[in-house]
Amino acid sequence: MVKLWQEESAAWRVELELDGPGGALALRTGVQGRVLIVGLGKDPGLETLRRAAAKAVKALRELGADSAVLDAAPAVKALGPQGAAALAQGAQLACYRQPAWKEREDTPFTLYLAGAEGLEDALAQADAVTRAVCFARDLVNCPANLLTPQDMAQRMAQAAGPLGVEVEILDGDRTRALGMGAYHAVADSAVHPPQLIVLRWRGGREGAPPIALVGKGVCCDTGGYCLKTAAGLKGTRGDMAGGAAVCGAVLALAENKAPVNAVAVIPAVENRLSADSFLPGDVIRSMSGKTIQVNNTDAEGRLILADAITYAIQQEGAGRVVDIATLTGACVAALGFTTAGLLTNDEGLFHTFLSAAERAGEQYWRFPGFPEYRKMIESPVADLCNQSSDGCGAITAGLFVGAFAESLPWIHLDIAGTAWVDRPRWEYQTAGATGAGVTTLYELCRELSDAP
Ligand code: BES
Ligand code: MN
Ligand code: ZN
Repeated sequence: MVKLWQEESAAWRVELELDGPGGALALRTGVQGRVLIVGLGKDPGLETLRRAAAKAVKALRELGADSAVLDAAPAVKALGPQGAAALAQGAQLACYRQPAWKEREDTPFTLYLAGAEGLEDALAQADAVTRAVCFARDLVNCPANLLTPQDMAQRMAQAAGPLGVEVEILDGDRTRALGMGAYHAVADSAVHPPQLIVLRWRGGREGAPPIALVGKGVCCDTGGYCLKTAAGLKGTRGDMAGGAAVCGAVLALAENKAPVNAVAVIPAVENRLSADSFLPGDVIRSMSGKTIQVNNTDAEGRLILADAITYAIQQEGAGRVVDIATLTGACVAALGFTTAGLLTNDEGLFHTFLSAAERAGEQYWRFPGFPEYRKMIESPVADLCNQSSDGCGAITAGLFVGAFAESLPWIHLDIAGTAWVDRPRWEYQTAGATGAGVTTLYELCRELSDAP
């Protein structure tokens, strides 16, 4: 927990040293009194502050402290209110614990911020974003047997409804009636019914087309008839991290009353093996009218995203489309666990996105969308196929999804590597779900504000 400093006694004092010692994030514990000194190196940015606060909190907890006061003044002096917000965010995320289904001890920790008086607004706004990240982490950390599509819909509705977000949940009959054949090819493989979750935040100008945030919500991905290996199946949860991210972003926008219209669309399904699951070779018809030859039932994410994007365009009147998904192992192979993949058809949106990601402290790297890559997802019998065999799987998957964004400005984010870490890659992460995407999507939508 992070609070403003008000004369309570704290076990430790944390000081930030702006110019040293040496490389960023050096820690020094005091010999006299109880002082922890964090060296930030030269010209630290917001992300360095997040990591420094997280590192300090983790070190303090290891030392057995239950509270500390952190002097935010140097950070505020260098970076303004956002400096204090970054410290609070890093500290809070470092304290995150994944849900557990057993008795266990909880040791609370309080970090008091000194030198942040008068910055309550900035801190409250950052706090809303941090809690949204933790909400996304909680959902992604939940195993498949405890988070069916219906559970997910319920959790999202419960969180979003009270904030003034309009929640609509379309059951299988309605999505079938809309012609969402690509979505249903996957959804109908499971006994647990699918849910198309729609969260509308209308903080912007009336009638302004919303930005659509479309997040993959596969509650478990067995691969279907193209069954995963035992090792692959272990990671079967977490394939709804894109859905969790778009929901988190909308929660933060709503809490902070952002002047923008945004609609999150989350196709929530399971990809299972059952008697009449879809098969490799099947030809299916998507909501857009495009037909798709299924080459691999494990390439299910792009199928449900395709129809969710068409839904966002046709039914929600989206003006721009961002999709986010744990889409491909190929993206993990290319960029690892610290950097997500990106494809886009719009330079302006790309640059706005990059500055949002920078503020959020997240890393994305753009893949090329050359025409020859598009040819790789052509099919002799249908408009598209869902898998090509010539490598660059992260690109062909993204281009497949982009084919459904029509001519709208579109960005595709592949968070297969960044959504989950077995060991933390940054100080403010803990093992398991990271909440990838929430902060960047929030920052992006803020930037695209369309206030009256
Ligand atoms: N959800 C997986 C991708 C994934 C893999 C995410 C590892 C996180 C970690 C996706 O549905 C999938 O199975 N993709 C296949 C696509 C292939 C069959 C074209 C993959 O990447 O192997
Ligand atoms: Mn799959
Ligand atoms: Zn998947």
